Amino acid sequence: MGVLRRYGAYLPITGKTPDVNLEEGSTPLVRLEKIGASLGVELFAKLEGCNPSGSFKDRGMVLAVAKALEDGAKAIVCASTGNTSASAAAYAAHVGIPCYVLLPSGKVALGKLAQALIYGAKVISIDGNFDEALDMARKAAADKGFAMVNSVNPYRLTAQKSGAWEICDTLGGAPDLHAIPVGNAGNISAYWHGYKDYKDFGKITALPRMLGFQAEGAAPLVTNQPCPHPETIATAIRIGNPVSAEFARAAVRESNGEFNSVTDEEILAAQRILAKDGGVFAEPASCAPLAGLIKLRKADKLPKGASVAMILTGNGLKDPDTAMSQVGRPINVASYAELIEAFS
Ligand code: F0G
Repeated sequence: MGVLRRYGAYLPITGKTPDVNLEEGSTPLVRLEKIGASLGVELFAKLEGCNPSGSFKDRGMVLAVAKALEDGAKAIVCASTGNTSASAAAYAAHVGIPCYVLLPSGKVALGKLAQALIYGAKVISIDGNFDEALDMARKAAADKGFAMVNSVNPYRLTAQKSGAWEICDTLGGAPDLHAIPVGNAGNISAYWHGYKDYKDFGKITALPRMLGFQAEGAAPLVTNQPCPHPETIATAIRIGNPVSAEFARAAVRESNGEFNSVTDEEILAAQRILAKDGGVFAEPASCAPLAGLIKLRKADKLPKGASVAMILTGNGLKDPDTAMSQVGRPINVASYAELIEAFS
């Protein structure tokens, strides 16, 4: 029924807030038995790739765009590693306002670029990384009086809390551990606040430990210093100076959790395991948590039997190039005999 309708009671909605709805949210929480057994935990994957634009961004974008309309904004603007731009473009198209997106040149996965363009956004390529694009987008939005829909817009994180509420509604409580990729650090902050809200409302009794995973080449929250030249195959989290760093640090500190980093090789291995042993295709950034859980398991730091919610933030189809670079090609057959041979 869409995030605004399902969780409107917990969101800052007024009589004047337009009822924007692309049926985002209410994503599946899938139990991954085989992978969970190999880790010694009860593993649940939240398939955020099932959102209308294929990532978790839609949860917050729906409220950000509804509020932009309520406030009379003429257009929306964002910088993005890809998914925010796809989501912003989708909602702008749906409600009929212009959308401008700033992308780091050459570093956005093909599917995300195709989305922003086909939804009709004006796509602007920046010679610089995401952090630089974000600075420019903030300044341009202020100068032009357009609504800024990156997670510096508080409505984004407010509605992204709905992911935590759904997990608790489905499980009947919070998981023991919450594993999530971290880029600009908004989502981990939103989930933590969502869990805390539900505890305050008396809907759950315990809170999870928050485990945030970054790519080794873009891990400012692990090294505790900004990373001026972030680099990783997981382009969605190729971010060196996270805007919500302080919220994210608080989430990890208050929950007795931790940040950890994983290599690109570990991310790609996790992507294959998730697909082959779980039947779920998630984009590389989304596989950082599984890579991290595997790493923790090897170090004997994963509590046996714990329930773990892992957020698969984006759909694997967003980045076909990275997937194709790791797999073989289809087998060509020229005859029925060759087909039968291929079946062996
Ligand atoms: N996973 C995916 C698939 C993402 O697209 C992002 C962020 C993250 C994880 C990290 O979430 O920033 O809240 O810590 N993508 C942003 C974008 C930066 O522009 O699409 P975060």
